[in-house]
Amino acid sequence: MASEKKKGRILSSRHLLGLEGMAGEEIANILDTADALKEILDRPIKKVPTLRGVTVVNLFFEASTRTRLSFELAEKRLSADLMNFSTSGSSVVKGETLLDTARNIEAMRIDVVVVRHQCPGVPGFLADRLSSVVVNAGDGAHEHPTQALLDLLTLRQKFGDIKGLKVAIIGDIAHSRVVKSNIYGLKALGAEVMVCGPPTLIPRDVESLQVKVTHNVDKALEWADTINVLRLQLERQKSGFLPSLREYYWTFGITMERLSRLREAPVILHPGPMNRGVEIESAVADSDYAVILDQVTNGVAVRMAVLVLLSAPEIAV
Ligand code: CP
Repeated sequence: MASEKKKGRILSSRHLLGLEGMAGEEIANILDTADALKEILDRPIKKVPTLRGVTVVNLFFEASTRTRLSFELAEKRLSADLMNFSTSGSSVVKGETLLDTARNIEAMRIDVVVVRHQCPGVPGFLADRLSSVVVNAGDGAHEHPTQALLDLLTLRQKFGDIKGLKVAIIGDIAHSRVVKSNIYGLKALGAEVMVCGPPTLIPRDVESLQVKVTHNVDKALEWADTINVLRLQLERQKSGFLPSLREYYWTFGITMERLSRLREAPVILHPGPMNRGVEIESAVADSDYAVILDQVTNGVAVRMAVLVLLSAPEIAV
């Protein structure tokens, strides 16, 4: 193990449940591995045998486009065997519990469980009860570690270094899992972080995470080198947080008009799915300031890196 550690490629946990507490060096190792693996995506034959014989189940209890498809593609590019599970059409609709579902799938002899669930803590709950490696693909408003890792990779590619970078995260801070994983990852790599949104959508204790807070989006834009624009998580909100979506757009929406008042426009990230005309103007989302589709490409590389480092660390690049 000591020599493996010296290689600097080994994760300290056998699961990826979140970025809270993860050291900057460990995060940098994942990003380095993703950077190295990304080249496979541009080959004429986009496939390597790295995870031949490893079986992964993608256990999605909540809707997803990017995360589910990018895990699936990462598994295919690495030659893993994979199974896709979604709630509709499964025995969950007949009343089977989460744990019974997971244990029955594990009894088919799988190695890795990638799980998305609307309840915070489900990946940790499964990690405590299954023998398989568990990867968190987003659990309620808790964490979304692979999203933050792909955001970090995109920023590192754009800026060269994350240390000292000023990152403003704008939108529904209270209901976001992306913001928590981003704050943990960004702070571990030495970035400065500001959160911005309406007072009703910023948790009172957020400053305990050593981030700046503002309710003025123009101040956040003036300060930041880069912004990460979050969707309003309407599916997780109770009513009464906002007067209307139109007012939110006027007050917090990222528009070309707002960007035109800046000396220099920031690099713009969005984890998706986007609500054009709510948190971001269409013209901004499609502009050269946005790196949203680069994030999606990097998502495949990051998920390949996580799968290799967790299930085949001895052959990690
Ligand atoms: N960013 C993200 O998690 O997108 P999906 O919900 O489509 O997976």
